[in-house]
Amino acid sequence: MANGWSELGPDALPGIARLVGRAVPDPPTAAELARTLFDDEQPAHVVGDPAVGVVATVVIGTSGHLRLLAVDPDHRGRGHGLALLAAAEAHLAAAGCREVVTGSDPPAYLFPGVDTRAVELCALLERSRYRRDEANFNMLVDLGRLPADPGGWEDVADEREVRAWGDAHWPHWTPELVRAARRSTLVGVRDAQGLAALCAYSVNRDGWVGPVCSRPSLVGRGAGRAPLVGALRRLAEAGHRRAEIAWVGPIVPYARLGARIGPVFFVYRRSLDDRGGAPGPQAGAA
Ligand SMILES: CC(C)(COP(=O)(O)OP(=O)(O)OC[C@H]1O[C@@H](n2cnc3c(N)ncnc32)[C@H](O)[C@@H]1OP(=O)(O)O)[C@@H](O)C(=O)NCCC(=O)NCCS
Repeated sequence: MANGWSELGPDALPGIARLVGRAVPDPPTAAELARTLFDDEQPAHVVGDPAVGVVATVVIGTSGHLRLLAVDPDHRGRGHGLALLAAAEAHLAAAGCREVVTGSDPPAYLFPGVDTRAVELCALLERSRYRRDEANFNMLVDLGRLPADPGGWEDVADEREVRAWGDAHWPHWTPELVRAARRSTLVGVRDAQGLAALCAYSVNRDGWVGPVCSRPSLVGRGAGRAPLVGALRRLAEAGHRRAEIAWVGPIVPYARLGARIGPVFFVYRRSLDDRGGAPGPQAGAA
């Protein structure tokens, strides 16, 4: 393969875990990497050398997503980051993608964008003509200070029921909800019409919470609060001291529980239609 990079499979996991442990803020664990890079449902194309750097991509429709890009701190500043990005772009272009997007790649995502604490990666992308678009963020909940349990929630494990409910109400979240049901990390509340609201946790990243969703007719009526508190209690029981509500939409339900805004992630995009130009500063940059 060009640049001497190899395609990497699950046997490279220990090396990739060591690399990201040294290279990435809040690094994913080996188990989290296994279920996000090498899961049968949405396997990533992983390329590199775990001793130096790796890049992982997935294709969603006509978008190619960068699931992971990391270079070991001892090997930085020698062009490996740019070379890995170029290899990813070439692979995604050959796969028919029209654009590259950073992170935000459900269901098996690692990051809802580029963690803004990884300023070197933001710089690399902006130098490479990526456009900074929306920002996503997580919210942090201190599990030692949870409110009283409203009760009424239960574990939900019936994959078929969850799939039917997701497909009917929130189809873009169905795969994550089903993954949670399979992992026994899904809680919900029921009413006379069946499932009223669900909250998944530890789907891709342990201690991360979401999706949280209620039947559309119940949105805004507090139906999601009981399963949310239930999921947070399950995490506290499992020994977590802090939970991270991932890729937050409305802030209010989490702020009510005392959550604070935590890590912020930039979503960068670059069209692949203009490939071939030399890397340059972000268009319009000062
Ligand atoms: C971003 C990263 C991959 C860069 O790796 P690298 O091998 O050092 O990158 P390169 O040598 O190819 O540098 C490429 C460009 O990135 C930018 N860059 C890299 N490090 C930088 C720094 N410390 N400050 C400013 N710009 C930087 C520069 O524009 C550089 O090119 P230039 O010097 O010619 O302008 C590496 O710092 C890293 O792994 N960071 C953590 C990434 C992370 O958190 N990943 C998880 C989310 S996907």
